[in-house]
Amino acid sequence: MATPLVAGNWKMNTTPREAPALAASMRDGLAAISGVTKVICPPFVSLGAVAIALDRTDVEIGAQDGHAEESGAYTGEVSMSMLSSLCQFVIVGHSERRSLFSETDADVAAKTLSAIAHGLRPIVCVGEALDVRDAGNALEYVSDQLKASLEGVTDPAGLVVGYEPVWAIGTGRSARPDVAGEMAESLRETLASLFGDEPASDIPILYGGSVTSENIGPFIDRPHIDGALVGGASLKPDEFVGIVELTASIRA
Ligand code: 13P
Repeated sequence: MATPLVAGNWKMNTTPREAPALAASMRDGLAAISGVTKVICPPFVSLGAVAIALDRTDVEIGAQDGHAEESGAYTGEVSMSMLSSLCQFVIVGHSERRSLFSETDADVAAKTLSAIAHGLRPIVCVGEALDVRDAGNALEYVSDQLKASLEGVTDPAGLVVGYEPVWAIGTGRSARPDVAGEMAESLRETLASLFGDEPASDIPILYGGSVTSENIGPFIDRPHIDGALVGGASLKPDEFVGIVELTASIRA
């Protein structure tokens, strides 16, 4: 069974001065919780400062993206090898990267492979837009998206999958836990078809989309949801610590 995992995606929020202060305000609360992998994903420019603020705790650090190439003429980009000395996780294929920056499944697969090659744990994000959900094709669409985003991956050790329905992100309208649970079960089957039952059962599958400390419980209660990918609520220390606490107590 997968170890539960809760990741806070700060997106493009917090200045380099604010980020370590925010991390410090969650430090004791997060450090006191065991049984859950805790990850904070600040902006690139604050990865080092947040790592220092959380030094000597078991809270891990993640980047929000990374480039697949090692180095070279890619102005503005940051490679997985650069990130590997600053953090342990990296989010790849977030729907905002896919929709606002035109990332394809092939781009996501290249990033995933590069992350793995550099010892980073990729949090590979998938999720359907509302038109796909309304057309009744969500399970097949997201399963295909996951397969294409993992093209070339042979060893899933360290892999994390985030299911984030696009219509639930930042809208205050989370998915129904049974709907997310059905998707998580389908993703588990997809992972099993790629890697075998046992390796697939160890891969944390996270739900993301308007998660709060009020609504997290029924998600974690679903058998195939192992945690959450939290946006807005991860910027509020009490909320984020509360989400991690609830996850730990439900999965204990
Ligand atoms: P919200 O929790 O703000 O809906 O964002 C979810 C998300 O995109 C996390 O990666």
